[in-house]
Amino acid sequence: MPRSRLRFDELIKDRERIGMLIEGSCVSNIRNGYKVLPEYQEWKKHREFIATAIHKSGTILDIGCANGFLLLCLQNWTDKKLVPYGIDTNYSAVSDARRLFPRQRRNFVNMSMAELAKSREYGLPSKLDIIYWAVGDNLQFSIKENRKLVSECLKRVKNGGRLILGFYDPSRRKNLRRISQLRGGGFKIQKVIKNRYHHGLLLAILEPGAA
Ligand SMILES: C[S@@+](CC[C@H](N)C(=O)[O-])C[C@H]1O[C@@H](n2cnc3c(N)ncnc32)[C@H](O)[C@@H]1O
Repeated sequence: MPRSRLRFDELIKDRERIGMLIEGSCVSNIRNGYKVLPEYQEWKKHREFIATAIHKSGTILDIGCANGFLLLCLQNWTDKKLVPYGIDTNYSAVSDARRLFPRQRRNFVNMSMAELAKSREYGLPSKLDIIYWAVGDNLQFSIKENRKLVSECLKRVKNGGRLILGFYDPSRRKNLRRISQLRGGGFKIQKVIKNRYHHGLLLAILEPGAA
C-alpha cells in the first residue's frame, strides 16, 4: 500500500481532525439543535460517488476547492493517480488547502471561476484531465451567464478528459431540472450518476466537444 494511503488511513481514525476538515469543506452537522462535528462515514457516503466518475489518471481541478479535503479524499478513493489543483474565492480556505498539500501548495490559487480564462497567469495549467465543479444550489442554467461558466470549464478540459458537475441540492427534481436546462442550452450530458445513499445528489458528466 502506498505511504500516502497509509497516512490517509491513519488520518481518518482521528475523528476530531477529520470532523474539522469536513467542516472546512463547507459541511456542518446539526443534531438536536446543536452543532456537532461531521462524521467521516457520512461525508464519504455523500462524496465517494465522485470517485466513480474519475475515469483516468492525470490532473484534476476542483473549482471551489475549499480546504482541499475533497481532493485528498478523491486521491484515496480511486486507484487513479491524481495531481490536485484547486481554486477558491475564499483566501483562508486556499491557505488551508496549501497546508493540506504542502508539496503542491502552488497548485492552490485564490481566484474566482469567472477568471478561468486567466488560469495560466495564475500559474495553473491551461487544460486539465478532470475538472470538478460542485454547482451552487441556487445556480440555474436557464441563465446564459451561468451556461457560459460551463463552456469556460469545458474549454479547459483536455480531449479524453471530463468535466464533472456535482449537484448537492437534496431535491433530485431540482437537480434534474438544472441538468435539463443544460441540455436545453445545447450541452451534451454523457452520463448522470446518482448517489445511492442520498436520493438528491447527482453528478453530470460532460466531455469536451460536447457543447
Ligand atoms: C460547498 S464548497 C465545495 C467544497 C468541495 N469542492 C466539495 O464539493 O465538497 C463551495 C466552495 O466554493 C467556493 N466558491 C464560491 N464561489 C466561487 C467562485 N466563483 N469561484 C471559485 N470558488 C468559489 C466557496 O468559497 C466554497 O469554498
